[in-house]
Parts: sequence; structure tokens; C-alpha cells
Amino acid sequence: MATSTSSNFTPDSSLDLLFNPELISQEVRNALPADLHIRPLARTDYQRSHLAVLSVLTVVTDPGLAAYQSQFDAMRVAPNTNYTLVIIDKSSDQIVGVGAVFIERKFLRGLGKVGHIEDIAVDKRQQGKKLGLRIIQALTAISEREGCYKTILNCSDDNVPFYQKCGYEKKENEMAKYA
Ligand code: ACO
Repeated sequence: MATSTSSNFTPDSSLDLLFNPELISQEVRNALPADLHIRPLARTDYQRSHLAVLSVLTVVTDPGLAAYQSQFDAMRVAPNTNYTLVIIDKSSDQIVGVGAVFIERKFLRGLGKVGHIEDIAVDKRQQGKKLGLRIIQALTAISEREGCYKTILNCSDDNVPFYQKCGYEKKENEMAKYA
């Protein structure tokens, strides 16, 4: 386990990032506590507890570093499409929150775009400190900046109040067919 010194923190400039960090809202950056940092997913975030944080959401199997990095590379090949961001605890250089927005391009609505928010997770010890809210605000801002006419997501009944606090409203139904 990393020790609690800020010297552990890896600056964005030393990382191979999924997208341009300037796309992350300055307002959200300013609202975060000083010991936390928000940035795009990095190619080395396998080593910063990315999968452990995601496991508060669902079952996560460890693919190993090489497969993790192949997945990262595949996401980066499609520009302006996959935006996964993370919140980092500066003292440990470990991830404490994650979330993603996927930009879907359409033929309707004048070749419109829709943002799909996916895989929001906050480390159990950090829940209730508005990190989930900040992640949703940052992802929604990216979606809107990309020109999406709407941003949507699926969630459990338990999480409906959380998303309402983030400014989202219930609309229609979710359908699923698992393989
Ligand atoms: N029920 C009611 N209110 C809630 C809930 C809830 N389940 N969760 C958060 N809130 C409220 C908070 O009390 C807060 O309200 P306030 O502004 O009045 O104080 C507001 O919503 C913002 O909450 P945050 O502190 O930002 O929430 P947190 O950082 O804990 O993140 C999250 C919420 C992401 C749901 C977190 O609890 C988590 O990781 N849960 C497990 C994984 C999960 O369910 N992820 C979402 C899956 S859906 C998807 O990915 C699209």
C-alpha cells in the first residue's frame, strides 16, 4: 500500500491519457477537495486500483495488465467517442471514483449525438462526499460540449434519487437481454 505523501501523485503530464484533460470542466475541478484530482483514464491506471473501484458496481474479472492496456488502446482508436475519467486521491495516487460517457453518433436529429453515461463507481470509503455528483457533472459537461442533444443512463431503483440530485429525470423504460 502506498504511503500518504503527496510526492506519490503522478501529474497528468507524465501519463498516457485517454483524452484531452482540458475537456474536464474547470467548475468541477474547483469544487473537488484539495486532496483529490480529476483526470482522464490513464494507460497505467490498472496499477491505481481502477478495477477494484469498479467492483463496487458489479463483478469485475482481472484481465491482466496487457489485456487491460489493449482495451485502453482500442478505446482510444475511436476519437471523441469514449470518455472515461477518474478521481485520484493525491496522497496515495490511487483511484477513488470512476465514470464514463460514450458518444453515439446517429442519422436522425440532423446527424445528432447522444451521450450514454456508464459505469459510475465511488470507493466505499469515499461515498457520500459528492464525488459521484462531480463525476456526473464532469461527464454531462463533456457530453454537452460534444454537442449531444441528450445524455442518458440506466440505473437501479435505489440510485434514482442520486441521479435526480444530479439533475436527471426518469424517462421511459429500460429493456435488456443478457447473452
Ligand atoms: N439514495 C438517495 N440519495 C443518494 C444516493 C442513494 N442511493 N446516493 C447518493 N445520494 C445523494 C447524496 O445523499 C447526495 O445528496 P445531497 O446533495 O442532498 O447531500 C447526492 O445524492 C450526491 O451524492 P454523492 O455524495 O455524490 O454520491 P456518492 O459519491 O456516494 O456516489 C454512487 C453515488 C455513484 C451511486 C455511489 O454510491 C456508488 O459508487 N455506488 C455503488 C455503485 C453504483 O451503484 N453505481 C451507479 C451505477 S448506475 C450507472 O453506472 C449509470
